[in-house]
Amino acid sequence: MKHLAENIDKSRLPRHVGVIMDGNGRWAKGQGKPRVFGHHSAVEAVRATVEACAELGVGYLSLYAFSTENWSRPQMEVGALMQLLVDTIGSEMSTLLENNIRLAAIGDTSQLPEATQQALEFGIRNTSDNDGMTLILALNYSGKWDVTQAVQRIAAEVASGRLSPDAVDEATIGSQLSTGQWPDPELIIRTSGEHRLSNFFLWQAAYAEFYFSPVFWPEFRKPDLYQAILDFQGRERRFGKTSEQLDPSTNP
Ligand code: IPE
Ligand code: IPE
Ligand code: MG
Repeated sequence: MKHLAENIDKSRLPRHVGVIMDGNGRWAKGQGKPRVFGHHSAVEAVRATVEACAELGVGYLSLYAFSTENWSRPQMEVGALMQLLVDTIGSEMSTLLENNIRLAAIGDTSQLPEATQQALEFGIRNTSDNDGMTLILALNYSGKWDVTQAVQRIAAEVASGRLSPDAVDEATIGSQLSTGQWPDPELIIRTSGEHRLSNFFLWQAAYAEFYFSPVFWPEFRKPDLYQAILDFQGRERRFGKTSEQLDPSTNP
């Protein structure tokens, strides 16, 4: 584990890593346990990933924790996930403070149960003086929701006459997204062997590198995160250019 981390070039870390944490239910089923057991066991994977990113010096870590589509799950499972959020924000506060991590949330959090909203507000307030990594929890989030709320805000600006339609450009849209103040993710990891975005960062993923791990999320640990970052560092990010045009100092 140690030598994996040592191979990482700290000067070429992804500034922002997004994780689609998937496979809790299948992992639990494989153990003959209920799905909710998988969600509880996932807390250790969250802690390992958060710590590993903070220790390395990743600036922003976004965790897709609950999508707008996840409301369709059995009510008991949704309730357990919402309660787990409350418990985890409380139990992991020391991890956040010890690692100088600032908590943030994206998504329509106003639709979350009151206790979950309160735990989130507490977590955000309690870590607001930290200036290390920003940990962004995506809750009741979806990429389509995000683009929609951005369009609504831009439309209001246009309707009020403060913004001309011609002035709306990519930067305007990017800045009105819930992630407007942060850089776009450069690396998006999805666990459990699924190869889809499931309505995560649609706009923001325009030039992200994707890393798919077969590991179910409850078993994801620091070495898996290191492996994803090493894989990222081995890629040539061309942004439309040819290989020859690239600056050799920013690519392997
Ligand atoms: C990810 O694991 C957790 C959430 C989406 C909240 P799943 O619960 O989706 O696990 P699988 O995909 O059913 O195995
Ligand atoms: C994506 O996982 C959402 C989160 C990780 C929060 P899902 O398990 O809900 O995705 P689908 O339904 O398999 O696409
Ligand atoms: Mg899933």
